[in-house]
Amino acid sequence: MSPDLSVAVGSVRLKNPVLTASGTFGYGLEFLPFLDLAELGGLVTKGLSPKPRRGNPPERIVETPAGMLNAIGLQNVGVDAFIAEKLPLLRPHDTAVVANVFGETEGEYVEVLEKLDGAAGIAAVELNVSCPNVEAGGMIFGNDPKALAQVVRVCRRATRLPLWVKLSPNVTDIRETARAAEAEGADAISLVNTFVGMAVNVEKRRPVLANGSGGLSGPAIRPLAVWLTWQVRRAVKIPIVGMGGIMTGRDAVEFLLAGASAVQVGTANFVTPRAAVDVIDGLRAWLAERGIKAAAELTGALKSAEAASVPA
Ligand SMILES: Cc1cc2nc3c(=O)[nH]c(=O)nc-3n(C[C@H](O)[C@H](O)[C@H](O)COP(=O)(O)O)c2cc1C
Repeated sequence: MSPDLSVAVGSVRLKNPVLTASGTFGYGLEFLPFLDLAELGGLVTKGLSPKPRRGNPPERIVETPAGMLNAIGLQNVGVDAFIAEKLPLLRPHDTAVVANVFGETEGEYVEVLEKLDGAAGIAAVELNVSCPNVEAGGMIFGNDPKALAQVVRVCRRATRLPLWVKLSPNVTDIRETARAAEAEGADAISLVNTFVGMAVNVEKRRPVLANGSGGLSGPAIRPLAVWLTWQVRRAVKIPIVGMGGIMTGRDAVEFLLAGASAVQVGTANFVTPRAAVDVIDGLRAWLAERGIKAAAELTGALKSAEAASVPA
């Protein structure tokens, strides 16, 4: 018998626990030649802002030994164009559409949320309070529990949609920002966004990225992200959507065991556009081989008490 892959992230029901991560899957439509969107548990859109953004100048992406650094700068079509042009084309596909939201000010977050609240076909909104690649907004909100609490509070009032808050890993203690988001009414925590990093062109003696620094993603960050997932699992009661370097079904299992209810696949989409489907197939096979009936059984099922200790 095929295992039951369906999971719930709070009130959001997903046919399987695998979504594609914001910024790595466009608006989903770009991937129609490669896969049936209905195969996915869901997709998270590129971060939406009130006005279209051009993003940062090139170079914006550089490969690293086990992942990549990016400084895209939140290029996007803007929330109005998303609702008018992209969402109607996404609606016929039987998958959960999560809108990732970005603002430079609290008012901008509210503006985007209010518009999305009135648009049919969105399963949840994910607040990006953790982008390392922009000057205003982004990590400023995500790094300070007080600023985070304030932005989540105003956002909570601005939407009836389930509110996922995507945390920055670039903090001293992620439990503080997780607790702040939960206290202000977040329905779920997404983690993690990219880690700040830098690559140097040694001949030119300059940073490779025009922005100087960028966000590190991919397999290099997976152990870090699993550890942060486990820490947040013990700090809050709301569900966690985990991500960071997931390439296979087995990688997804790590996050589920550490406490995630669902996962997102990001950088792997740049390796192969069907990466998320491969992760779903791998997860199904992993469960079937072990006679595990439901993916939901894995969430938080990590056994070792030692895993709770902080490394020396
Ligand atoms: C090119 C690129 C663009 C991204 N854009 C966004 C974004 O707009 N909003 C956001 O919340 N996260 C964004 N992210 C972060 C990813 O959604 C994800 O959190 C991160 O890459 C870790 O997962 P991964 O290792 O599977 O890629 C972006 C990542 C990459 C690589």
